[in-house]
Amino acid sequence: MLEANAVDYETSIPNNVGLSSDRRVLKALEKWHPGYLSWWNEMGPEGFQDSLVYLRTAVGVEPGGWAKFDYVRMPEYRWGVLLAPKEENRLIGFGQHKGQPAWQEVPGEYRSMLQRLCVIQGDTEPASVEQQRHLGATAPSLYDMRNLFQVNVEEARHLWAMVYLLQKYFGKEGRSEAEGLLIRRSGDEDRPRMLGAFNEATPDWLSFFMFTYFTDRDGKMQLESLAQSGFDPLARTTRFMLTEEAHHMFVGESGVSRVIQRTCDAMNQAGIENPFDIDRIRALGVIDLPTIQKKANLHYSLSLDLFGSEISTNAATAFNNSLKGRYREDKIEDDHQLINATYPVLKPVNGTFKLVDEPALTALNMRLRDDYTRETDSGVRRWNRQINKNGIDFEIRLPSVSFNRSIGLFSNIDTTPEGDSLTQEEFLSRQDDWLPSVDDGAFISSLMEQVTEPGSFAGWISPPRIGIDNKTGDFEYVRLQ
Ligand SMILES: [Fe+2]
Ligand SMILES: [Fe+2]
Repeated sequence: MLEANAVDYETSIPNNVGLSSDRRVLKALEKWHPGYLSWWNEMGPEGFQDSLVYLRTAVGVEPGGWAKFDYVRMPEYRWGVLLAPKEENRLIGFGQHKGQPAWQEVPGEYRSMLQRLCVIQGDTEPASVEQQRHLGATAPSLYDMRNLFQVNVEEARHLWAMVYLLQKYFGKEGRSEAEGLLIRRSGDEDRPRMLGAFNEATPDWLSFFMFTYFTDRDGKMQLESLAQSGFDPLARTTRFMLTEEAHHMFVGESGVSRVIQRTCDAMNQAGIENPFDIDRIRALGVIDLPTIQKKANLHYSLSLDLFGSEISTNAATAFNNSLKGRYREDKIEDDHQLINATYPVLKPVNGTFKLVDEPALTALNMRLRDDYTRETDSGVRRWNRQINKNGIDFEIRLPSVSFNRSIGLFSNIDTTPEGDSLTQEEFLSRQDDWLPSVDDGAFISSLMEQVTEPGSFAGWISPPRIGIDNKTGDFEYVRLQ
């Protein structure tokens, strides 16, 4: 007999949800498994399926000691179904069902809405694996290659997490949605992934770091809101996903920081003070800070779109029905129902932007996006302190929320990154100043060369301060086969 929360590794699918005594769901998952493996082999990391990668695998769900590190061939990774420990007598914390016992089954009236939340979340997970599948070929070190693959196998596990919920709780429709998650493809014209940013290319490693910093963090915010859900299995699933997600944020923030460090070092060694002396800086084989700013502009604006329209009745309904809460709902002190509450929403009004009070319920996307921006900004400030410490006069700035938007209140207007309105024509003529241009992309691509000597790094990025799992600098994180 397994202890509560213990992970069963005896079944083909590691889990802590008692799959061995849940024949129906075990069968459904086993039926889904071969299709999943074909997807992984076809769309997972290209060219490294036989390599031994030093990966962590989740072996428990208790904080501390939940992961075990070892060499694994990625197709043999033990993707499991793991839920955070069950809180006995958990009560719903918000919405009209606040104070009632959390649901262990799907309430009939919320079935389609919950299913949709699972499908949308589930769709982003394999999408990012697809977007990043070609990056192994240009990894700047074995350390970075390993981190990429770690993120990839964990995003794939997040797909498992959502597929488990769909198959266990949503019957036939859930099973068919689980199939659909293996059919859509990032960037495909006929069957694209569901959300915009997940159909964009991740052409190079700077994009990968920006993606994990900006776009994975949207994922984190969505998971945080779902972790509050009155539907307990969803709350527990997403809570455990957040444990893994922390590493993805780290890969992004430290990745960008190492690119910045290398650029600053190279500029200082060459005696270049002006960060806009782009040709001379690029001639050193490093990425100039203004180009890093452009990448940040792009990934931040694409990620803001993922929060949806600022004013949204869907968001209001999901909250009101106790399905999707606010960021750290349980730490907020208010009525948790938002009766008569308002929230300030930035809106374009007669050529300028004004904060307008809206009913807090319909402004929930805006609120989550503001929480996101606050967190994002604190990492950007850490990058700036680093630039400053290196004696270089440059500051990375998050662009205005009005810049380069495709969804919401600003989707029909064009502005500069500072938020000044301009015509579409003006925008198009100046966009290469603000967003990565074809030339910028070509320059960055020219630097992307695979480095596979243990302990060596490509010339455009600094080594990390510490290794993964406390390994020393020359540790062989990937054994190429
Ligand atoms: Fe994920
Ligand atoms: Fe992630």
